[in-house]
Amino acid sequence: MARQEAGVTEAQIAVHWKEEECLTPSVKFIGQAHASDPSILQRFTEDKFPECFREYADLLTWDQYWHTTLDTSNPPFWKWFVGGKLNASYNCVDRHLEQNRNKAALICVPEPEDEEDRVITYQELYVQVNEFAALLRDCCGLKAGDRVTFHLPMLPELPVSMLACARLGVIHSQVFGGFSGQACGDRIVDSGSHVLITMDAYYRNGDLIDHKVKADQAAEHAERNGMKVDKVLVWQRYPGKYSSSVPMKDGRDYFVNDLLTEYRGARVAPVSMPAEAPLFLMYTSGTTAKPKGCQHSTGGYLAYVAGTSKFYQDIHPEDTYWCMADIGWITGHSYIVYGPLALCATSVMYEGVPVYPDAGRAWRIAERLNVNIFHTAPTTIRMLRKAGPDEPRKYQYHFKHMTTVGEPIEPEVWRWYYEAVGKGEAVIVDTWWQTETGGFIGTTLPALHPMKPGSCGPGALGIFPAIYDEEGKEVEAGSGKAGNICIRNPWPGIFQTIWGDPDRFVRTYFAKYCKNKDSKDWRDWPYLAGDGATQAADGYFRILGRVDDVINVAGHRLGTKELESASLTVEEITEAAAVPVLDEMRGRAVEMYVALRPGLSPSEEIATKVSKAIEDIIGKIARPKHVWIVPDMPKTRSGKIMRRVLAGISNFADPGDIMTLANPEIVEEVRHKVQAEKVAIGEVPRELSPEELEEIKRFGNVD
Ligand code: WT7
Repeated sequence: MARQEAGVTEAQIAVHWKEEECLTPSVKFIGQAHASDPSILQRFTEDKFPECFREYADLLTWDQYWHTTLDTSNPPFWKWFVGGKLNASYNCVDRHLEQNRNKAALICVPEPEDEEDRVITYQELYVQVNEFAALLRDCCGLKAGDRVTFHLPMLPELPVSMLACARLGVIHSQVFGGFSGQACGDRIVDSGSHVLITMDAYYRNGDLIDHKVKADQAAEHAERNGMKVDKVLVWQRYPGKYSSSVPMKDGRDYFVNDLLTEYRGARVAPVSMPAEAPLFLMYTSGTTAKPKGCQHSTGGYLAYVAGTSKFYQDIHPEDTYWCMADIGWITGHSYIVYGPLALCATSVMYEGVPVYPDAGRAWRIAERLNVNIFHTAPTTIRMLRKAGPDEPRKYQYHFKHMTTVGEPIEPEVWRWYYEAVGKGEAVIVDTWWQTETGGFIGTTLPALHPMKPGSCGPGALGIFPAIYDEEGKEVEAGSGKAGNICIRNPWPGIFQTIWGDPDRFVRTYFAKYCKNKDSKDWRDWPYLAGDGATQAADGYFRILGRVDDVINVAGHRLGTKELESASLTVEEITEAAAVPVLDEMRGRAVEMYVALRPGLSPSEEIATKVSKAIEDIIGKIARPKHVWIVPDMPKTRSGKIMRRVLAGISNFADPGDIMTLANPEIVEEVRHKVQAEKVAIGEVPRELSPEELEEIKRFGNVD
């Protein structure tokens, strides 16, 4: 609707789009790939669904094989591999011991360059996971089905903690280490965790950050909101030494390393869990202020990440694989920990900032460890490029395969990644997926499909996407017209529900295009991804960005409502609106518009307070680029703030039709003020591409 108002039809947008040239992978890559025979595509055609996913499940070791591949009796709460039993920790650790006990499972690179790597073999991982599982069971009384919140940095204690929980059937919920104590506290409350696992400190950009202080804030915040944290387990960045300034709270806080002395040599039998038992929760933002705890299953999830790690990451036993994401995001869960370890791979993890202490750091790590598969996000690629466009050439590493994930990548950035980082030798997969989907859903198969800069490719194996218009009509396949991308079928990696809120799960992801609420046929329940997309004649999808009130900053979703409620905790503020603005490094950044209580006048101080509130409540990642104090917000007659108008102003784009506003005169006033200030500081964006214009027009559409 917003599009028509603005006078631009989808067809017009489509003709403006330039299709990029395709590139083909090298013969050398194809020669060694897991999936180089096109017959694999035949094994995953729609008529083979859902049985095709047996191939993924058969990558796992089951205690009890399942009897039903897909149970659709309670739509859209799909159940995969029903009747099956397995343990995720057994699959990622124990079963590799016989043949690979001395192989490196994890190579953990600390940020300070003079500190040694921590190389953890499968045998060592087995020992650590068992000992910590014994501690969790005996000292914390944790058992299958309980939830535990982690607020851990990128150190090996994080995967050890995950696998220890998985061993017991305990559901872990890792909160990104960079999030605030309060954000962690909210997730403790929502998940009902009595135990918080944290670390005293970690390195970031050369500083040893005090992290335990956030655990205190989290526990206090949780308690104020009705959830008492009984135990805080504190790992130490330097075992035996305490690197935080805040005291340990008697009777609540324990050093893991002290407790562990009692569990040396302990072994815990892996608990055999039903395939559909939850493995973990991962919180993500949506259109309300309350984050959604995406609940992922044990059997379906693990099968899906093992299968996609094999065919799309193309990990072989002899490879050294480095995914530079944070395990606090789904990418790290699926493609640093569970997928690679299920395949008995060697997975590298890095504690710190990719360009610390200089632009060559990432490439030195790659060279030293002989990394040959590399995985990161466009925001990091932009950062690496800006810091040292010629740096990769100086180092002797050779990637055969690279991944980009998390946000649309500009073709120009893609080409630098290909030529400079990949040295023209590495194949690239642009993997489109989400916290909710568990694993890749749109991507090329690296040895079989050509690469097209800026497009993710076709649906992944066994994934059948379609684009629908607002009325629920399928947009003609391959027409290049924009619409809402959906997945027509269930798949093993899809999340099971939103923790504690099944209605929201149905409402958010299925209600819009459900063809018949009483139907038990999966064909009637397309999954709504919340992204705008087009499909070119060759079948490749191009993801345009979010169509809902979510802002993708540096590959991470931030909900506008979360940002707005954080701003409203500042007493001077009566109204707030968050909008995305194009940002050279982060893809999108946040700009806040706020209105003051009557009688107050705008000041730098108030703007700073808003910024600070967002940082304290959500985390640094959400810090707005600007806080604009405005006399009033553009509103509809029913009083809804028109975010798309503000987004248009922030991006120097057409704010669209404002005739339906209750106060159209305010638009010009705000536009003048904001844009004049931006011009004064030299912040005028380049000309927007049609995709970007389309994204802004669709943003926060309330009509
Ligand atoms: C949103 C999901 C995928 C795991 C990390 C982010 C955007 C993701 C791509 C891509 C264009 C992408 C989408 C999606 N997105 N991958 N390859 N090309 N856009 O997970 O935080 O749940 O965010 O990220 O908008 O909906 P997330």
